[in-house]
Amino acid sequence: MKLPRINPTSTAAWKALEAHFQTRQADRISDLFAQNPNRVAQYTAQWNGFTLDYSKNRIDDTAKKLLLELAQQCQLKEAMQGYFGGSPINETESRAVMHTALRAPASADSKVEGSSVAAEVEAVKTQIKNFCDQIISGQKKGFTGKAFTDVVNIGIGGSDLGPVMAVEALKYYQNHLKIHFVSNVDGDHVYETLKSLNPETTLFVVVSKTFTTQETLSNALTVKKWFLSHASQKDIALHFAAVSTNTAKIAEFGIAPEHVFPMWDWVGGRFSLWSAVGLTIALSVGYNHFEAFLQGAHEMDRHFAETPFEDNIPVIMALVSIWYNNFYGAESEAIIPYTQYLSRFSAYLQQGIMESNGKYIDRSGTRVNYQTGTLIWGEPGTNSQHAFFQLMHQGTKLIPTDFIGFKKPLHGDMDHHDKLMSNFFAQTEALFVGKSKAEVEAEFIAKGVDLDSVAHIIPFKVFEGNKPTNTLLIDQLTPATLGSLIAAYEHKIFVQGVLWNIFSYDQWGVELGKQLANSILSDIDGSTNHPHDASTQALLKAYQNK
Ligand code: F6P
Repeated sequence: MKLPRINPTSTAAWKALEAHFQTRQADRISDLFAQNPNRVAQYTAQWNGFTLDYSKNRIDDTAKKLLLELAQQCQLKEAMQGYFGGSPINETESRAVMHTALRAPASADSKVEGSSVAAEVEAVKTQIKNFCDQIISGQKKGFTGKAFTDVVNIGIGGSDLGPVMAVEALKYYQNHLKIHFVSNVDGDHVYETLKSLNPETTLFVVVSKTFTTQETLSNALTVKKWFLSHASQKDIALHFAAVSTNTAKIAEFGIAPEHVFPMWDWVGGRFSLWSAVGLTIALSVGYNHFEAFLQGAHEMDRHFAETPFEDNIPVIMALVSIWYNNFYGAESEAIIPYTQYLSRFSAYLQQGIMESNGKYIDRSGTRVNYQTGTLIWGEPGTNSQHAFFQLMHQGTKLIPTDFIGFKKPLHGDMDHHDKLMSNFFAQTEALFVGKSKAEVEAEFIAKGVDLDSVAHIIPFKVFEGNKPTNTLLIDQLTPATLGSLIAAYEHKIFVQGVLWNIFSYDQWGVELGKQLANSILSDIDGSTNHPHDASTQALLKAYQNK
């Protein structure tokens, strides 16, 4: 099946949402709470240790009902059948989008365009398991007979961000292997990483879906050269592994066939950490934890596939975001995890969300007349509170924000955790409730300060509040809950792409810069002399004359 072609603005639900927005946009969240004593219960979705409280939003019952209708009128249910059913919904690349098959049990017999992929997925999982067991246990050794101590993942974009994020997120569960990541084509990145490494005990995993990416191939060649300055050609087979769809190219590099982990073109780069692209995740925490990670994601897949939209966490997250993006005109969304382990989570989602839904051509090939993908940013709390929260509380921008927190800490220090979580709850409350002029004045009076003497300072101490947030409260950060959390955002991406009538799974927008960089590279070495705009020409000249 093909995804529907429905301009969302042409639906009855969109028109009703517009009319509703016109009359109710000035509503305050506090009024919505006052009007509905059951608001918290009605605006909370519970699932498997996840609580999504979206009550602190500028959404009333009518808006919620209309947003759910919008999902129906844009044929979300039908689109989900194509997504889970392995139809080539990535039409501009003629590919299915089946990262969900990577975490489904073999018994689910996942199909891509009608053919079962369960057996090949299981075979690669077994390959990952065996490899990880042998490296972690020290059974597989380096060229001087020593066990491996360090692993370097060489990849970029989806071949880097997911593993970086998840390895960091699961650090608590990590074994003795030290994991490093080299992504940037900036030589300083790779040379800085190599500085601390011992070639005898380091394993290199080259990850590139296409095996044509300039950054990854350059870094892999530099690493190979460094390695060969300490070892011989035959030792490459012991110290290098690769993950790719392009197995022919890998062979040219000299990697041993048993260290080649295949992947498939029906797995998008930014959704590939569930495949062998996640090899460094599995190496860092062991295969059992990796399996639990996949299982957690699969459980979220089932929740998304089987739950009515009004209780469906990814659907709700997507609809709330559309309400602000398309009706309030919010440009960005912040994602603030209250755990240091998720320090790379927003960076990871920047690719997932912005590469997927940053599109201005709709599924009929015409320019959209409405907003699509949001800007994504964020850092862990509480650090972010001391950085950019000033703007969130008293700035002029509307920034819907997801707060992600965990009931139980991993290291078990409740003193720290209670402090962390008191900040977590305090921030959403402060953003919502704010602080009125009367409250500011009352504070001065309580301190015995004469109000006339501080009248000039009072406006600066007032907080308007009414800033929207979602709170995602999860039991504990485990491989399984991490899997579920990531999958929830993946499905949010899907829902938004369907409703915005765009193709979420291609990324043509990254091609032009790559093409130009190639032609500029040959201009720099003097072998070509392509025409450039005047500014670029002048800059190139300045660079060449350095
Ligand atoms: O930046 C574009 C992109 O194609 C991403 O979608 C992808 O994750 C990344 O480059 C890396 O690609 P590859 O895994 O093929 O090296």
